[in-house]
Amino acid sequence: MSKKVLEPLKSSLSGELTVPGDKSISHRAVIFGSLAEGTTEITHFLDGEDCMRTIDAFRAMGVEIEKDNQKIVVHGQGISSLAEPEQPINLGNSGTTARLLLGVLSGLPHHFVVYGDESLSRRPMDRVSIPLRKMGAEIDGRENGRLLPLAVRGGSLQNIAYETPVKSAQVKSAVLLAGLLAEGTTTVTEKTTTRDHTETMLRGFGGEITKQGDVISITGRQSLKAAKVEVPGDISSAAFFLAAGTLVPGSKLILKKVGLNPTRTGMLDVLTDMGARLDIINQRTVGGEAIGDILVEYSSLKGTTIEGEIIPRLIDELPIVALLASRAEGETIIRDAEELRYKETDRIAAVVDTLASLGADISATEDGMVINGGSSLRGAVVDSYGDHRIGMMIAIASLIASGQVVLTNHSCIGISYPDFFADLQKISTNLS
Ligand code: S3P
Repeated sequence: MSKKVLEPLKSSLSGELTVPGDKSISHRAVIFGSLAEGTTEITHFLDGEDCMRTIDAFRAMGVEIEKDNQKIVVHGQGISSLAEPEQPINLGNSGTTARLLLGVLSGLPHHFVVYGDESLSRRPMDRVSIPLRKMGAEIDGRENGRLLPLAVRGGSLQNIAYETPVKSAQVKSAVLLAGLLAEGTTTVTEKTTTRDHTETMLRGFGGEITKQGDVISITGRQSLKAAKVEVPGDISSAAFFLAAGTLVPGSKLILKKVGLNPTRTGMLDVLTDMGARLDIINQRTVGGEAIGDILVEYSSLKGTTIEGEIIPRLIDELPIVALLASRAEGETIIRDAEELRYKETDRIAAVVDTLASLGADISATEDGMVINGGSSLRGAVVDSYGDHRIGMMIAIASLIASGQVVLTNHSCIGISYPDFFADLQKISTNLS
């Protein structure tokens, strides 16, 4: 098992970083590039394990995809060119590949088998197989199609009007992608807005999609045209350095070209609410997505309550927000975040367990956690639970712990941030 010994930081953090490309946008760029006709060029692609699974899945269906580090070229030949793979498709650890791909496979006249690693095999897939079956796909697997491996026989789909029972962009996107391949107009109603990269990128590939109130409509059987995609930096990766800059005394960091899509910026609102010193500069729009540079400085924090509509806007940032809360003055309450239990690991249990081992005063609730701030963190041996975001949260916690932190099982960080430790080294002076 991989193990990393992390010593407390004896200096402050300073300098500039360009964080890796956005994971959600990278997946979608490969998907739309593969469905479109023509040559799609993607730059600043996230060169992590999850996004490789999406590339490999479309390669298995015959799409020619060239990859040179963070530059991807997809030679799309349209939806009808996608062929039946000879082998089962390995989705690895990637929930986004699994859910979005199932939407696409449902609309193709072939048979597929998809499987994932241990963690993905525990995560619920019925949230997508239920609507996709309603559209006409045949999906079966363990527990009546709730768990991977799944067998899919796709084909001619009917449109549906679907109201998503879970606050999930993956579910919304799976139905929209199936809707793109289906007959007629498919609508998805979501009561709480989730990340809208699928909708934005579809327009970038020449597709038509509308939103009225909370109803999103997509016309089926549209053909898409290749596009150039410049992937913004991932705010969910930047989040770890936003936290580091805020927590380590004397620090000042600039994070460049970070995606600032309003459906993703909940952490910035929470940080501001907690009293952090943040500034956004050079704000602009690239490919329909807002981006900018974020300046962050050390500051003392106060506790807050995080609940309701903001939750999907910072769902992946809640582990690192919990660390911030452990150092804030007063109590922080996180509610309405039961979705955390269905991530790469049960993130409520993992965050509470790891932060408590490091000395935080934190307890789990059914749909969130309660953190009494102001604790000093100490060294300990802590495991990532095989979850990249838990691993990175622990690494940032180690910067302010009083003793050595031994992080076991750290290689999962490569899922979303392969150069995480190199970037951390770049902005600090005494890390080894
Ligand atoms: C994602 C949506 C979110 C998020 C995940 C990526 C996406 O998952 O946690 O990291 O790219 O659509 P849910 O849709 O399950 O909330």
